[in-house]
Amino acid sequence: MANPVLGILTLYLNEKRVLEERPVYQRMTSAARRLGMDVFVFTPEDVNYKQDRIHALIYDPETRHWSRKWTTFPQIIFDRCRIQKSKRFERLKYFRAKYANHLFLNRPMRNKWTVYRTLSQDSRFRPHLPETRMYHSSRDLKEMLDKYPLLYLKPFNGTGGRGILRIQKDKGRLLIQGRDLSRRIIRPQRVLPQALLGRLSSWNLKERKYLVQQGIQLKLDNGRVHDYRMLVQKNGNGVWEVTGCAGRVGAAGSVTSNLHGGGRAERMDDLLRQWIGNEAHVARIKQHADAFGLGVARFLEQAYGGLCELALDIAIDRSGQIWLLEVNPKPAREVFARIGEEETYYKAIVRPLEYALWVYSQRSRSKGLKSRTSKRRPRTRPLQGSRTGHQSILKNNEGPGLI
Ligand SMILES: Nc1ncnc2c1ncn2[C@@H]1O[C@H](COP(=O)(O)OP(=O)(O)O)[C@@H](O)[C@H]1O
Ligand SMILES: [Mg+2]
Repeated sequence: MANPVLGILTLYLNEKRVLEERPVYQRMTSAARRLGMDVFVFTPEDVNYKQDRIHALIYDPETRHWSRKWTTFPQIIFDRCRIQKSKRFERLKYFRAKYANHLFLNRPMRNKWTVYRTLSQDSRFRPHLPETRMYHSSRDLKEMLDKYPLLYLKPFNGTGGRGILRIQKDKGRLLIQGRDLSRRIIRPQRVLPQALLGRLSSWNLKERKYLVQQGIQLKLDNGRVHDYRMLVQKNGNGVWEVTGCAGRVGAAGSVTSNLHGGGRAERMDDLLRQWIGNEAHVARIKQHADAFGLGVARFLEQAYGGLCELALDIAIDRSGQIWLLEVNPKPAREVFARIGEEETYYKAIVRPLEYALWVYSQRSRSKGLKSRTSKRRPRTRPLQGSRTGHQSILKNNEGPGLI
């Protein structure tokens, strides 16, 4: 029997059809082949919508070459598309709507603000969410400044540390630092509180839909900020697992730790020991962080439907309290390669593939079951394995007829 086929859906980064993460897809293709699955990569621009055919990008691990081939739709689609302000993104929305009935490994998640509000509905997560509000008027900024000595302002749809501002109270003045929308570090400014709004006017906080967030003090002794990237993935049995967690230390003068902004990856243990000191406390924090990450993944999957992996940006303050800064539905995994955790990196590549095979086998099983049981008796029992959230994937894709 032919191998099941996984189509990785992504977006070109520009008009020249530059593709992000090519090396990752090469590794995925090689790993998938060993597991008995074929992989190709495509974008919504490569689809013939009349014939439902795809001009796929195929990597050959033997010759190490990419080539193009027209093909039929894959059995499973892994959506790796990140938000872009472009026509390409509009095309993607059309694709997702037209082919909504296909089997997707993951469904799109929402913006930072919606995710924050979803999580804050659950009392388990609330103590770990920095207070956040949408910027409607200067009052939001003023009220948050009255409450907290440190604030972060970020675009609700931003990525990679772009357009992020940090405002810190400092001896009767406010220190403004950050990065512009092209991620360049802006010149730090110290202003009187009454001058703040004037200084921020060119940032168009309202039009650009900014969030105002309680800032967590994360400066190390050397003045650099730091945080952690935790990767949570579904495994080959459809169960959420923490694949790994790595520290990130921001570039000098940066208010963000993102690797794309010049941040450096570090092993979690090293960074946490340096920050917290006490070994037993470090071990407890790590345990707590893992449980927290798993809880968040399960909860968000219930809220938004099928998910297969998430990366959480986690801050740990000096007292050891865990804070969730952001949830990334389309994570890069390079952070683990950078700290030399090769096994974690390999797992991070392979897990979505193992999960895809599991989803595929469950669906084949349920189809077989469906055709057998429909001959015998009405369908009443739920599908086994629904505890993992897999049922929601099937529901999304199969419609109401599924058991
Ligand atoms: N509330 C906060 N307190 C302290 N640092 C923060 C806060 N929010 C963001 N940061 C820093 O800025 C970085 C980028 O913020 P994030 O919300 O993850 O946006 P992006 O989508 O641009 O990555 C974080 O990784 C962290 O280093
Ligand atoms: Mg982030």
